[in-house]
Amino acid sequence: MRRRLGENTRAIHLPPAPAPRQLPIGLPVWRSASWSFENSAEYADVLGERAPGFAYSRIDNPTVAAFASGVASLEGAAAPEEVAGQAFASGMAAVNAVLLAFLRSGSHVVAPAPVYGGTYSLLTNVLARFGVSVDFVDYSDLRRVHAAVKTSTKIIYAETLTNPTMAVADIRGLYRIARDAGALLVVDSTLATPVVCRPLEHGADLVLHSATKYLGGHDDCTGGAVVGRPDLIGKVREVRIDTGSTLSPDEAFLLRRSLETLPLRVRRMCATAMVFAAAVAKHPAVRRVDYPGLPSHPGHQLARQLFDAGPEGTRFGASVTVTPHGGYEAGVMLADTLRLALIATSVGGTRTKVAHVASTTRGRLDEAGLTASGVDAGAVRFSVGLEDAEDLIADVTDALDALRSNAATRT
Ligand SMILES: Cc1ncc(COP(=O)(O)O)c(C=O)c1O
Repeated sequence: MRRRLGENTRAIHLPPAPAPRQLPIGLPVWRSASWSFENSAEYADVLGERAPGFAYSRIDNPTVAAFASGVASLEGAAAPEEVAGQAFASGMAAVNAVLLAFLRSGSHVVAPAPVYGGTYSLLTNVLARFGVSVDFVDYSDLRRVHAAVKTSTKIIYAETLTNPTMAVADIRGLYRIARDAGALLVVDSTLATPVVCRPLEHGADLVLHSATKYLGGHDDCTGGAVVGRPDLIGKVREVRIDTGSTLSPDEAFLLRRSLETLPLRVRRMCATAMVFAAAVAKHPAVRRVDYPGLPSHPGHQLARQLFDAGPEGTRFGASVTVTPHGGYEAGVMLADTLRLALIATSVGGTRTKVAHVASTTRGRLDEAGLTASGVDAGAVRFSVGLEDAEDLIADVTDALDALRSNAATRT
C-alpha cells in the first residue's frame, strides 16, 4: 500500500498553480525567490546561462525583467532590438552599477557641475576612496568639457535635464567628445523620460533612470533602470547581481503598470508645466523662472532640437523652478503658502510638489556652493503634477500675491 504523506508534507507540497497557455494581460507578480528544475542538468544549464530560464530572483525574475524590457523598449523606440535593460532597487543603485561596471582605480569621470546630489556624493565620498577621480564642469560650454577630458576618462556623465536650473544637456555634442576620447556617454534621463527625449538616439551609450520619479509616477515605489547596447548592459547586469541591488517583483509590477500610462501622464504634465511657467514668469513678484520651454531659458533652442514634439508642441519636461524676489525668506514663504502643491521631496508624481531648494534638496551647499550650481537662495522647484492647470496657476498666483503684499507691508 502507498504510504500516506503526513499533513505537514501535504501542506508543503500542495499542487502547483496550473501553467496557463494563454498570455495574461495583467502582469503576474512572480514573488518566488527561487525556481525548481526537472533535473540537475537543467539547473546547471540555467545557472550557467547555457539555457534560458530563472533560478534565483537576485539574478533574474520574470516580473522584474518585464519592467526592464519595458523601459528598454520605450528608450530604444528607433532600434528596439539593439536595446536591452536592467532594473534596480533604486535610481542610485542604477547609477552605482553603471559606474562600477566601467570604472576602476585610476579612472576619471567628467560630470556636470550641478549633478544630482546623490550622484555627486557617490562619486566624491564613495568612489573617490577606490581611486576614481571626477571633474565637475559647466556643461553650457562644451569646450570646458573637452578640456576636462584626460586619457584616463572612462565616462562622460550627463543629465538630460539638470535640477533645479533645468539645464539641457547637449547630448550630440557630448557624444562627439566621448567618442573621440574613447569614453562612454552615460545619461541620467530621469527628469526627461523617453516621452520627452531618448538620448540613445542622439549618441548616448547608456541611459539611466530613477524610476521612483516619472516612470513610477505615483510616489508609491522606489526603483531604477539602465538601458543600452546588450554588451554594455551585460556588464551592468553582472554588477547588479554581485552587489545585490535587484528590484523586488512587487515594485516591478507597479513600475511596469505605470509605464503603460507614461506617455499620457508626461505629455499632460509637460503641457501644464508650459502654461504654468509662462503664467508665473509674468507675475511681478517673480525674479526668475527656470524652464526650458520659455524662450528666455539658455537651453530653449537645444531643447527644441532634442526633445519630442506632439500636437501640443515641444515637450520641455514638467519641473519648473520659480525664484521670487526677496531671496531665501521669500522662497520659503512661497513654498509654505501654497495650498495645492505639497511640500515634499522627489519629482514626477501625479500630485504637484514643491521644494525650497536652498534649505532642502541642496541644503548641504553654502552660499558659494549655491552660486556655483547656478541656484538662487530663493529658488522653489515645482514638480508639476496632473491637477488642472488653472487650479495650479491660481494656487501659485495667490501665494505670489501674498508674498507681494507681505513685502509691501514691510517697506
Ligand atoms: C536625476 C536623479 N537621478 C537619480 C536619482 C536617484 O534616484 P533614487 O532616489 O530612486 O535612488 C534622483 C533622485 O532624486 C534624481 O533626481
